[in-house]
Amino acid sequence: MPSSTPQPATAKHSGPLQGTVTVPGDKSISHRALMLGALAVGTTRIEGLLEGEDVHATAAALRALGVGVVREVDGTWVVDGVGVGGLAAPDNVLDLGNSGTAARLLCGLLAGHGFTAILTGDDSLRDRPMGRVITPLEAMGVRTEARDGGRMPVSVTGTDDLLPIEYVLPVPSAQVKSAILLAGLHAPGRTSVIEPAATRDHTERMLAHIGAEIEIEDTADGRRITVTGQPELTPSEIKVPADPSSAAFPAVAAAIVAGSEVHLPAVGINPARTGLFDTLEEMGVDIARDNQRDAGGEPVADLRVRAGALKAVIVPAERAPSMIDEYPVLAAAAACAKGRSVFEGIGELRVKESDRLAAIETGLAACGVAVWTEDDRIVIEGCDGPPPGGGHISANLDHRIAMSFLILGLACEAPVTIDDVHTIDTSFPGFIATMGTLGAEISGGAP
Ligand code: S3P
Repeated sequence: MPSSTPQPATAKHSGPLQGTVTVPGDKSISHRALMLGALAVGTTRIEGLLEGEDVHATAAALRALGVGVVREVDGTWVVDGVGVGGLAAPDNVLDLGNSGTAARLLCGLLAGHGFTAILTGDDSLRDRPMGRVITPLEAMGVRTEARDGGRMPVSVTGTDDLLPIEYVLPVPSAQVKSAILLAGLHAPGRTSVIEPAATRDHTERMLAHIGAEIEIEDTADGRRITVTGQPELTPSEIKVPADPSSAAFPAVAAAIVAGSEVHLPAVGINPARTGLFDTLEEMGVDIARDNQRDAGGEPVADLRVRAGALKAVIVPAERAPSMIDEYPVLAAAAACAKGRSVFEGIGELRVKESDRLAAIETGLAACGVAVWTEDDRIVIEGCDGPPPGGGHISANLDHRIAMSFLILGLACEAPVTIDDVHTIDTSFPGFIATMGTLGAEISGGAP
């Protein structure tokens, strides 16, 4: 669990980064592998699970709900599933730490069970909106109580008599889509979600992989995903790809530190996740996606990233769902590029682990970069080379803000310091040491 003693870290101008690093397993897929394993009948074996705080929170919650979840000595995780509708009432509050995905997807899992569970989290998570999952789940018959503004702690009283619904997502959110599909698994009949903008589809892919009936059609209103409830899910072997959202950090580091070449094996390249790599290519970064292959229903490739002359980029709003977590680190690339970059339609960044729009603006300004926000867009004047740096950045319990500004520091003239990096363990345990093997000069972090 996160410690309360702040762990500062400092990144300084580094020489060319070289080498190969395997980044940890995909966070989104890891949460889903545990949860869907819990709903299968029998034993699911998971290889490459992300062993970060967020995923540990999901594992602990599932254990509290009566599911067997163990890690074997070789690092394989084994889930002893209880079947759809088979969870047991927890005898304590479920604490999901920093993880929005754990909290929101669990609400969906709990929906089809006739007991009450109370969910809470850390200061960051308790500030994030839960209304977006509460509203559709209440339409299915779930009863909830939350703090003002739909904030956690939230109590969820499910029912074994759920109503299937058709729901049009008001915000492009894979977490909301997944919560409804997981609830729909417990309802008799067909539950549909229509997403006007395509979001990551790991839940759909994994459900199809373990035997659920999933139908996907393109309609005038967007993509309609329909799940047929009350299936018997078959346990399987799941191989979790390396997380493209974590690969983003060494990839951008390689892009902004002159002369770098970094290799990143077996990274997920699901098109719903690769907006950052596409954008870096538009900026002039040379990215090869070698040995493209399938890993349990997810496409993966070995990435090779080489620094190039970086030019500014306009990122259209439509691309946001495919790179929603990558804007902070893309901002580091934009700060080093030649010209004015604009990221459009990124209002969702205000409700992530912190207000990331504000964090990017404040952090870049502290590093001497001209930057401003206009409603839901951000404008960054690139420095056409190393930014001044020298900023002292507050991470605000946000792992991606901490990592993004450490990456920026590798290219800056003066060192960049982060006040507390402990939340990096939520998604990328060993980040500082991993970056060190490439030649990144980052000091501090865990004592
Ligand atoms: C996630 C979806 C995204 C993303 C988060 C993980 C998921 O959130 O930001 O880190 O695993 O479904 P939203 O669904 O809120 O966009």
